[in-house]
Amino acid sequence: MEENSRMLSLLGGLAISIVGFQICRKVLPWFYVNILGPKLVGSTVDVAKMGEWAVITGSTDGIGKAYAKELARRGLKLVLISRSLDKLKAVAKEIGDAYAVEVRIIDVDFTGGVEIYQRIREQTAGLDIGVLVNNVGISYSHPEYFLDCYTADPKFLRSIVAVNIHSVTHMSALFLPGMIAKRKGVIINISSTAGVIPNPLLSLYSATKSFVNKFSDDLQTEYKEHGVIIQSVQPGFVATNMSKIRKASVFAPSPDTYVKSALSTLGFATQTAGYLPHALLQLVIHFTEALFGEQFARNIVLKNILGTRKRALRRRDKEQ
Ligand SMILES: NC(=O)c1ccc[n+]([C@@H]2O[C@H](COP(=O)([O-])OP(=O)(O)OC[C@H]3O[C@@H](n4cnc5c(N)ncnc54)[C@H](OP(=O)(O)O)[C@@H]3O)[C@@H](O)[C@H]2O)c1
Repeated sequence: MEENSRMLSLLGGLAISIVGFQICRKVLPWFYVNILGPKLVGSTVDVAKMGEWAVITGSTDGIGKAYAKELARRGLKLVLISRSLDKLKAVAKEIGDAYAVEVRIIDVDFTGGVEIYQRIREQTAGLDIGVLVNNVGISYSHPEYFLDCYTADPKFLRSIVAVNIHSVTHMSALFLPGMIAKRKGVIINISSTAGVIPNPLLSLYSATKSFVNKFSDDLQTEYKEHGVIIQSVQPGFVATNMSKIRKASVFAPSPDTYVKSALSTLGFATQTAGYLPHALLQLVIHFTEALFGEQFARNIVLKNILGTRKRALRRRDKEQ
């Protein structure tokens, strides 16, 4: 009898230690990466020491423009790459005047083919590029079933892969060699929380963002010893044109607030939500999956997104 109860307490103690160990293994790094590191120490990486220039894709609006402003504020010269020449000229003047740095522009449409990267290569030849922000991305106009997306615009399937995936791989291939040669450099790839949580009705968008996470993770392992930092940033909602959120809030911050926070994680985290409320959101979803099962979490997300789709379609019908 006594033997049995000793055995039970031993097993109980072992189970508690294993659970405690697992919690510490997951929770302590989370606290360090999302709270202690960025808040108490700040980024360990001085981006201005990586090179003279920063290249930012999708840099005339939203998150890309906010990265451009913050990097210029830290003293980097900029190459802005986006689609609309007029917007590029206006943003280049705005940032150049505000931070007294040289700003160059390249107008390309990332839905295009490999020829656009040849143009970018030619127009950036000879520049000492220290930071690359692969930010450009497109999404659905509203959450939608995959086949309805395809029927509405068959070309969209190719465009979203070209903008969200090919731009990241080709731009990295263009600028990694220079960074490796001088043994320093930073590549920031903008993914999305959609890439790390269930995201039905945005399946193609979220899959492109999962690609960005996986690609960044393995690329970082390949090139870490060459002195290059590769970070995948996974925002939740940010108040930009893409999200159609006009008013910033705690859970949908302004691009400037988001980017300041995301940059403070550079050097701490290779995969990051970049902003504490978004990191908490990811944590809640992952805990829900762990406690109640992945299907339960998927169903909750689906119900929520179906509601968003219904409201978006109602709005669209009213506008027509
Ligand atoms: N906003 C969010 O809630 C959110 C959440 C998670 C992840 N993200 C990711 O964050 C990144 C930036 O999103 P955002 O919300 O800041 O977007 P945004 O406000 O819509 O800005 C998009 C930028 O990309 C440029 N662009 C769009 N399509 C292009 C194309 N085909 N070729 C060249 N440039 C193009 C736009 O330039 P033009 O104006 O000239 O077209 C603009 O400068 C994206 O990768 C997105 O997936 C955003």
